[in-house]
Amino acid sequence: MKYGPLFGICSKCRTPEELIENILQFENAGAHGVVVDLGELDRQYWTFDDFKKILAAGCRVEKYACFYRNKHTQDVSDETRAEHLLAASCAGADIVDIMGDLFDPTEYELTRNPDAINKQKALIAQIKANGATVLMSSHIKQFRPKEDALKYFYAHYERGADISKAVFACTTEEELQESRRTSDELCAKFPIPFVHVCSGEFGSKYQRYETLLNGSLMTFVRLDDNDIQPGVKSALEYLRRHTPWAAAAGRSVCGEFTGKTAVITGAASGMGLLAAREFAAKGAAVLMVDINRESLEPAVKEICDNGGKAFAVTADVRSYADAEKAAATALEKFGRIDYLLCFAGGYEPRCCRSNVPFYEQPIEVIDWGIDVNLKGAVYFARACMPAMIKQKHGVLVCLGSVSGVEGSANGPMYGTSKNGLSQFVKGVALAGAPHNVRAVCVAPGPVLTRKAMAAMKTPLGRAAEPIEVVDFILQLCSDRSSFITGSTHFIDGGYLCNFGR
Ligand SMILES: NC(=O)c1ccc[n+]([C@@H]2O[C@H](COP(=O)([O-])OP(=O)(O)OC[C@H]3O[C@@H](n4cnc5c(N)ncnc54)[C@H](O)[C@@H]3O)[C@@H](O)[C@H]2O)c1
Repeated sequence: MKYGPLFGICSKCRTPEELIENILQFENAGAHGVVVDLGELDRQYWTFDDFKKILAAGCRVEKYACFYRNKHTQDVSDETRAEHLLAASCAGADIVDIMGDLFDPTEYELTRNPDAINKQKALIAQIKANGATVLMSSHIKQFRPKEDALKYFYAHYERGADISKAVFACTTEEELQESRRTSDELCAKFPIPFVHVCSGEFGSKYQRYETLLNGSLMTFVRLDDNDIQPGVKSALEYLRRHTPWAAAAGRSVCGEFTGKTAVITGAASGMGLLAAREFAAKGAAVLMVDINRESLEPAVKEICDNGGKAFAVTADVRSYADAEKAAATALEKFGRIDYLLCFAGGYEPRCCRSNVPFYEQPIEVIDWGIDVNLKGAVYFARACMPAMIKQKHGVLVCLGSVSGVEGSANGPMYGTSKNGLSQFVKGVALAGAPHNVRAVCVAPGPVLTRKAMAAMKTPLGRAAEPIEVVDFILQLCSDRSSFITGSTHFIDGGYLCNFGR
């Protein structure tokens, strides 16, 4: 069994601003794409620049552009419609919908006129050349037995469409059964992806969720449930309940963090990189921040190649300007910031190659220790928190350490900073609590991001695997941990149990 993504239908948007807001609402609710009817805009906005602005909004959702015939575009010629669809394909639409009767309006939206078909074929070729996917649609809105229904799909295919969509209706149980047979046949034999929608009183009532599972490429959703389409949240919930295998397979469409964004510092290596992979696999968009551009870029590419959403920002966490730039980029690219994970850090004697006692240390080493480990997290929290407050949802995770409890003669700023982070999250927890923003500190013992850590023994007789720490962080970010804030969590194999003896 397979299922496709959820496409939110934007409606009643007369201005680009309204449409952009609607797109972002769907994106934030967890939809995977949006249907944008450009013909619904007031006419002064039928311009390439306005299309471009609209189609650039919401970079986590695919844009499906159409220009249907409706009440206020009745006087618009199909040639003009075609021009706007072509413009949309240049302006960033991922999918462009060509009506099956474009250039020759017919009652059931499928022309048989050879001239019109030739024009459609030429338009399809141009849109494909612009890099967009062509979907051909027919809104029949009546019942058709299987053999007749299939003719619509095959006509779209023969004209060169990449995806075929046909909307029928069912008014009886028998018609619904027949429509299921049509879906089965399409699944078994149809050569391109299809969208088989069945509306009508009976179809809507009994089949509203079936397009989620009947092999259709996509399912159309609204922001809230209505009689014809499910709301995006209930459709996601339905998928979760009916397709547990999908979550197990790590499909982001059902991921726990779908629709959320994580900003991760220190994401080019170690636990930061692993956290970025895990968040992306569970559906979050990840903004990956690191000072090390060379390692960051392939890390981001790897996540994107695996179907995740990731974007790189090279930044030094010691710079507040860089922190602001990262926060602004996350908002611009992904529209929100739900999780801030501050992994950037390190033990200054190792990172600065200075193995002398504190009283002999160059001031640069001391600065590095405190600025990267403590101020870096403080700066990023300051830059990202306003977005979390506005959304009324956010979690800050700082990486502390058992060294925040122990002393170190050669690296006292490391322990001081890690201890400081335990204190810092308390203040952030208090400031964020009225706005549903939580803050926690995770303080590991030795973690095998470096082989050398294996030498640091714990009562469990070993150091932690990085995933053991990252899994715990995922759990803390999840709403399953919604009552946890202001606390420091040691994850150290019992390392501190002997402390002070
Ligand atoms: N590995 C352990 O045993 C262990 C134990 C306790 C706590 N921690 C803490 O966990 C975090 C991650 O540890 P790890 O072992 O995965 O680290 P790591 O060294 O693999 O990764 C740290 C990352 O931070 C980046 N970074 C360093 N300075 C930066 C700066 N100024 N701006 C932006 N990025 C910068 C590095 O380029 C690197 O990619 C650290 O804060 C560390 O102190 C680690």
